[in-house]
Amino acid sequence: MKLNPKAPAPQAPIGGPRHVAIIMDGNGRWATQRGRPRLFGHHSGAKRVREIVEACPDTGVEYLTIFAFSTENWKRTQVEVAGLMSLFRRYISKETRSLSEFGVRVRFIGDRVRLDDKLTKLMNDLEAATAHNTRVHLTIALNYGGRDEVARATQRLAMDVASGQLDPLKVDEETLPRYLDTYVLPDPDLVIRTSGEARISNFLLWQSAYAEYEFIDTLWPDFTKEEFHTLCAAYGGRDRRFGAVKT
Ligand code: FPP
Repeated sequence: MKLNPKAPAPQAPIGGPRHVAIIMDGNGRWATQRGRPRLFGHHSGAKRVREIVEACPDTGVEYLTIFAFSTENWKRTQVEVAGLMSLFRRYISKETRSLSEFGVRVRFIGDRVRLDDKLTKLMNDLEAATAHNTRVHLTIALNYGGRDEVARATQRLAMDVASGQLDPLKVDEETLPRYLDTYVLPDPDLVIRTSGEARISNFLLWQSAYAEYEFIDTLWPDFTKEEFHTLCAAYGGRDRRFGAVKT
């Protein structure tokens, strides 16, 4: 499927989420149900990413953040980890042009130190090639963990304190997020997790403090743009108070 920039745009729902984050779970089970290797599920899952990116403008979603590989995913078999890394390399090489033509700005969050040089070069190049785009901000979490991100942020913050650039008494809720990988992004409004698991698995821990959550049974390779629209529309009807009382 090619991204279609001329697709008619239905009205974005009023009060819909501006930033949606997705834990794309269930690829392995989806493949197993079909008697296929787990990597087949990951490849099918990668195809869904494009469809959901394409659905963002119609839905009023400006920021989409997806969990592609966690700091814990290294514990999987060597075959699965190598297969996922190869999938990421191929995906980036293959999708750069079409993402850019659709107006997608791609960013990566997570610790790049453990990723191989070829992959990090592709990631850097994709970020640079799409840096001028503004239609959809796609953030891919790769070797990402929320606790790891806070620890790395704290290291950087502590270095600024040690060098005298930051007054420790001025560190507050505004200061710390400036050191997170997501410092240029708004907080997610809606976090979706597919595959029936109701947990957040170390995803955007700081950023999701006031997010709404949707845990749905659909396995990620079966997730459709229609379902995405439905979840975003349901969000538009919610009453978010951020701890305050409505007056
Ligand atoms: C979780 O399903 C999924 C992952 C660990 C990988 C997510 C990756 C993709 C959707 C592929 C492509 C992404 C990009 C950006 C190209 P699981 O394997 O844990 O499924 P299971 O719980 O059924 O075993």
